[in-house]
Formats: sequence, C-alpha cells, structure tokens
Amino acid sequence: MTKDPMLLTPGPLTTSAATKRAMLRDWGSRDSNFIETNARSRERLLAIADAGDSHVCVPLQGSGTFVVEAVLGTIIPRHAKSLVLINGAYGKRMARILEIMGRAAVTMETPEDRPPSAEAVDAALAEDGDVTHVLAVHCETTTGILNPIVDIARVTAERGRDLVIDAMSSFGAIPLDAGRVPFVAGMASANKCLEGVPGLGFAIVRRQALEAAEGNAHSLSLDLFDQWRAMEGNGQWRFTPPTHVIFALARALDQYET
Ligand SMILES: Cc1ncc(COP(=O)(O)O)c(C=O)c1O
Repeated sequence: MTKDPMLLTPGPLTTSAATKRAMLRDWGSRDSNFIETNARSRERLLAIADAGDSHVCVPLQGSGTFVVEAVLGTIIPRHAKSLVLINGAYGKRMARILEIMGRAAVTMETPEDRPPSAEAVDAALAEDGDVTHVLAVHCETTTGILNPIVDIARVTAERGRDLVIDAMSSFGAIPLDAGRVPFVAGMASANKCLEGVPGLGFAIVRRQALEAAEGNAHSLSLDLFDQWRAMEGNGQWRFTPPTHVIFALARALDQYET
C-alpha cells in the first residue's frame, strides 16, 4: 500500500488507519448495529457541545454547506430577518444562501483580518428590531481568524435574538459550550477537526426551535425538521445514509474522546 499523503488543509484531512479500517465492511441502512452507532454518534456530538439537555443533533448527507443551507432554511422562519456577520468566504456564503432562498437579510462586513465586534452587533440589533437571527462564523477558515463568539452570543441573547453559528472548522478543536454560548443552531461536519471522512454534516439545534420549525424549509432533502422527526421515529435516515462515513465518524470520535 502506498503511503498516505499528509493533508495540511482544514478538511478533508488525513485520517488515522483505525478510522479508515472502520469502513471495511458494508451495512444495510436498517441494520441494528448501524442504527445504534448512528444514535450513539448523535449523542456523542451533542456531548462535545455539552448540549445534551437543551439541543438535539441532526446529521445530514453531503458536505458542510448542505447542513448550513438546511439549518438556515429550517430554523429561520420564512418571514424572519437575519443579520449576517461577514469577514470571509463563509459569512458571504450564508448571505448568499439566504439570498437564493429569498429570505430577508442584512449584512455587517469587516475586512478579512478583522473580527466583527460584539459592540457593533449590539448596536445593529438595537437599531433594527426586525432582525430575529444573527448568523456568525466561529473560525472563519478564509484566514483562520477566530471570531469573538462568546461576546457575540452574549449581546445576541441580551437582545432576545437567536444566534446561528457556522462552527465547521472549529467544532471539536475549540470549545463551543451551549451553557456558556447561547446558540439556537451550530453546524459542523465529520471531516474537519473531528478527523472523520467527508460525506456528512450535522447540526446541534435547540430542541424547542426545531420543534417549532415544521413547514419552514424550502426544500425536501434539506428539511432538517423532517430529517430529525423521521430519525427520532424509527432511528433511520429518510434517504440513503452514508453508512461508511458514520462508522468512520464513530471510530474518529473514539480517538477524539481518548
Ligand atoms: C467555516 C466553514 N463553513 C462552511 C464550509 C463549507 O463546507 P464544505 O466545503 O464541506 O461544504 C467550510 C469549509 O471549509 C468552512 O470552513
């Protein structure tokens, strides 16, 4: 076997031999072993954010952008207005997703080397009472800059608004603790800091908000409410699950926890 390349990118990245070995068999989507591993992985992801009491974890097929799009379409009501904080590509991408979905949004843009300030967010929320959701990127991968998510979460909560966090390139490496950082939804994927393989993203969503989100989604396959309700019902995925990716993630989580 040729030596694996060392991937020095944010993700996909080099995975361990144990993680790769976890994929060397096949599972049916209704295998009890698969259903249990899926359920347990969802709990373990919630535990990383210390969010087991307040939130639920909903995995979704696809890359990280798929789960970002699913969260924005499902959690933000159709007539709500969002404030998107932009200091790089991934803030821009959330604004673009809202634009394509036809959801109202305003943006606050700072240069790529400057994080958004919590004071500016506070002032914007004071000025615009129509904004219901603030959308922020935890680590803006464009530059690697770490945005001040604790302060942004504090002012957002103080103003009674909801915070959505794209934690794609930070989750599992930089703490995101639901008790300390109030957020309605956080998104990440298997193949970044958790060191699983590509193929699924997941959202950690406040249970109450998800329960209220029926009918919000603009899309069938990106309807996170429906994905959650179906999975809670019979433990299965609505559509073909990325079985091997889930077993690889479970193995990567073993190593993460160790
Ligand atoms: C912060 C952030 N958000 C979203 C994405 C999009 O993820 P994907 O390329 O898996 O769709 C990335 C990818 O690097 C990212 O770093």
